[in-house]
Amino acid sequence: MLDKIKALQQELENATASSQDDVELLRIKYISKKGSINQLFSDFKNVPGDQKKEVGKAINDLKNFALEKINSLRDSFESKTAETSGADLTRPGEPLRLGTRHPLSLVKNKIIRIFGRLGFTVAEGPEIEDDWHVFSALNFPPEHPARDMQDTFFIEKDPDILLRTHTSSVQIRVMENQQPPIRAIFPGRVFRNEAISARSHCIFHQVEGLYVDENVSFADLKQTLLYFAKELFGEDTQIRLRPSYFPFTEPSAEMDVSCSICGGEGCNVCKYTGWLEILGCGMVDPNVLESCRIDSQKYSGFAFGMGIERITMLLYGIKDIRHFFENDVHFLKQFGPAV
Ligand code: DAH
Repeated sequence: MLDKIKALQQELENATASSQDDVELLRIKYISKKGSINQLFSDFKNVPGDQKKEVGKAINDLKNFALEKINSLRDSFESKTAETSGADLTRPGEPLRLGTRHPLSLVKNKIIRIFGRLGFTVAEGPEIEDDWHVFSALNFPPEHPARDMQDTFFIEKDPDILLRTHTSSVQIRVMENQQPPIRAIFPGRVFRNEAISARSHCIFHQVEGLYVDENVSFADLKQTLLYFAKELFGEDTQIRLRPSYFPFTEPSAEMDVSCSICGGEGCNVCKYTGWLEILGCGMVDPNVLESCRIDSQKYSGFAFGMGIERITMLLYGIKDIRHFFENDVHFLKQFGPAV
């Protein structure tokens, strides 16, 4: 055994390496789990008792010698690579370039914060939905054109599984699982089978809002939306509600804000009307409450839904919706640090 140790010691003393890979091979050969030094440790149990002390010390010394030798060979290569690469190790480091928040995330977070101040919480639902949550429970009649293949991406037909066309589906999921009072907003991605152009895309984002409690009135809806518009577009912003139609609200309205670009004077963004349409809203149709087993005699509510791309384009003066999805850093880095 002592001879074996001596022979290994000799081998290690003479060992040389001409690359980092050679050093690694030495490491594997001598000091890895299956290396020859570990082998000595396993053979140690066969050493007669009276020699154990001497042999044990010799193996330990050999192990330490091997570790030192291999480390010093490794060091010599590491310093060599730094020297030979011509790198100036005294140069200051390149600063790490921090990413920026996507403009859609910035605006989404702003909307969440504004409604948060009014006590609205945030909930999310699935992007792959069924007919019930996207259409039927929202009071869409069976023949409604939105169910058409022209508008909706179907994953399966009969039973219908589809990519949600609006975040109103999350209203249903929340009302199915929770009794009033409910006060929440639902941001998320939606999908429509539309041609891609500067103004529309087949993927975009919405924020849906829902408030259900006893005695919720249209006046509550209007005041909530006025507060929201002023917080988002500025204190001088005015709103107007125009009668409209959605299957899931009655009465329904579309809301315009006074044009934040010309202050209502008329410009090409507001097409010289002084107003910009930004969302749809209304009082939740009693049929929708009943679909979710909420007593429509006792409770009433309002809902609203808006597109985040459109609002972001208005806030930042972005003229083409496709910028949001191209991930060109030249575009993205304009939006300041992540907040
Ligand atoms: N879901 C509608 C859409 O995608 C937007 C909408 C309109 C949502 C009126 C509502 C609402 O909650 O009350 O166009």
